[in-house]
Amino acid sequence: MATEEEILARVKPGCICKGIKLCAIIQAIEDGAKSFEEIARITGIGGGSCKSGRCMEKVSALLEERLHHG
Ligand code: FES
Repeated sequence: MATEEEILARVKPGCICKGIKLCAIIQAIEDGAKSFEEIARITGIGGGSCKSGRCMEKVSALLEERLHHG
């Protein structure tokens, strides 16, 4: 069964400019990506009209969370 967090991640946007969902970013982190660049390469996020401003913030928060809380 999916947790509430997982369900939300499937519908929440990760990179708004590229239309990539949050769950793609989380998946990349779970697969071992440790920086925005790595995640961008795997998922295709970044490089949009906001110049990665919006998705980079989310990625940093997610990375921080995973690194400090397991
Ligand atoms: S939200 Fe990712 S490049 Fe704009």
